Amino acid sequence: MEGAIFYTTKYGSTGDYAGWIGDATGLPVFDINHGHGSIEALDFIVIGCPIYFHRVLGEAWIRRHLAELHGKPVVLFTVSGAPAGPKLDRWIATSLPRELIDGADHFALFGRQVPKTLTWFERILLIIAGLFNPDRKAGREEMQGFDFMDKTSIQPVVDMIETLKARDGPRSRPDERQALQGRAL
Ligand SMILES: Cc1cc2nc3c(=O)[nH]c(=O)nc-3n(C[C@H](O)[C@H](O)[C@H](O)COP(=O)(O)O)c2cc1C
Repeated sequence: MEGAIFYTTKYGSTGDYAGWIGDATGLPVFDINHGHGSIEALDFIVIGCPIYFHRVLGEAWIRRHLAELHGKPVVLFTVSGAPAGPKLDRWIATSLPRELIDGADHFALFGRQVPKTLTWFERILLIIAGLFNPDRKAGREEMQGFDFMDKTSIQPVVDMIETLKARDGPRSRPDERQALQGRAL
């Protein structure tokens, strides 16, 4: 089956992961803010989004393209300071439509936050959040920043994509391939 990676990023870490996953799988990689081809022509979609203030960045794009995503396997990777677990699941559940979450395989990757690159507004909000965070480790990371980028952590995402690529999809049937010629990305 044929797929592509769509991602958004503010400070680059999700873009780094998207690029590494693209290199490892051969899938085309698109920043959703810079235009992209048809989603309809694809058999499966990989979406990469960072977490900002307990929400999924890119949620508006996902909602806008929900109809095109419908019925296709979706691989969602999020990039955050928080680890996989109930907290992250809750933020995803409040940001994204249930039908997307139910049909998606989710992978949580650790990101990077460098205070000196942030806006003053973001820094102040993170200092306040860090001071009041009952999880003191997470609170310190909010205030002081962190770099948990790990290229090897993409492996489960790559394995999932390879499984999807190996599946027979409509695009692997010659008649459908012909019909879709010129529509593919
Ligand atoms: C202003 C700001 C708010 C953030 N809010 C959260 C959050 O609510 N939960 C979380 O786990 N990580 C949070 N993070 C960490 C980001 O998810 C992490 O830095 C991620 O790697 C950023 O992705 P990007 O570099 O692709 O923009 C926040 C980072 C910043 C700078």
